[in-house]
Amino acid sequence: MAKRNIGKSFHIYPMPVVIAGTVADGRRNFMTVAWVTKLNSDPPMIGLCVARKQHTARGIQQTGEFSVNIPSVDQATLVDYCGLVSGRDEDKAAHVEVFEGALKSAPMVRQCPLTMECRLSQTVELPGSFLFIADVVNVYASESILTDDAVDAVKLRPFVLTMPGASYRALGEEVGRAWEIGKSLLQK
Ligand SMILES: Cc1cc2nc3c(=O)[nH]c(=O)nc-3n(C[C@H](O)[C@H](O)[C@H](O)COP(=O)(O)O)c2cc1C
Repeated sequence: MAKRNIGKSFHIYPMPVVIAGTVADGRRNFMTVAWVTKLNSDPPMIGLCVARKQHTARGIQQTGEFSVNIPSVDQATLVDYCGLVSGRDEDKAAHVEVFEGALKSAPMVRQCPLTMECRLSQTVELPGSFLFIADVVNVYASESILTDDAVDAVKLRPFVLTMPGASYRALGEEVGRAWEIGKSLLQK
């Protein structure tokens, strides 16, 4: 397959879409985040990349806590809203059914079927953003997305951000079984 060098600017496609919940200047706030990843299994850790200018970054620095809320396709409008406007200018929590877990400053979104409360453990300072690395303290799931007590991605119906055109898209068809289809290339 021939390749063309297209420079250095990139995204990892597709990008998962979540809502981060924080308390900034004493007020609950919610922001859309696509740059998010699991970082460690034991203990469970997560990484969230937030531009320095975001009100959310201020909140995480103030409290050392945040939530990560994974929406289903039913919450796409709320997700987009939380990425359109800053909590500095608008009370985004007015559109959110908030619930709290063990942490004081990690408000969670009841509309999202999968949510987690997180405690900041490290901040990596990047030129334009902060990579917030956190321990996941508790995970909350709606009964409707569980299969044998485990989160079932097909039932969750998460969605991703795709380019070009900036669209939200649901998961597509299965392309193969993980840790299975690669076995056909094993040499022994
Ligand atoms: C689909 C989508 C994904 C986004 N992903 C990120 C992200 O990963 N990191 C980031 O800093 N901003 C991201 N943004 C932008 C913020 O959500 C947006 O600037 C928001 O208004 C900031 O809110 P705040 O100032 O209340 O924190 C994204 C926006 C959208 C719509």
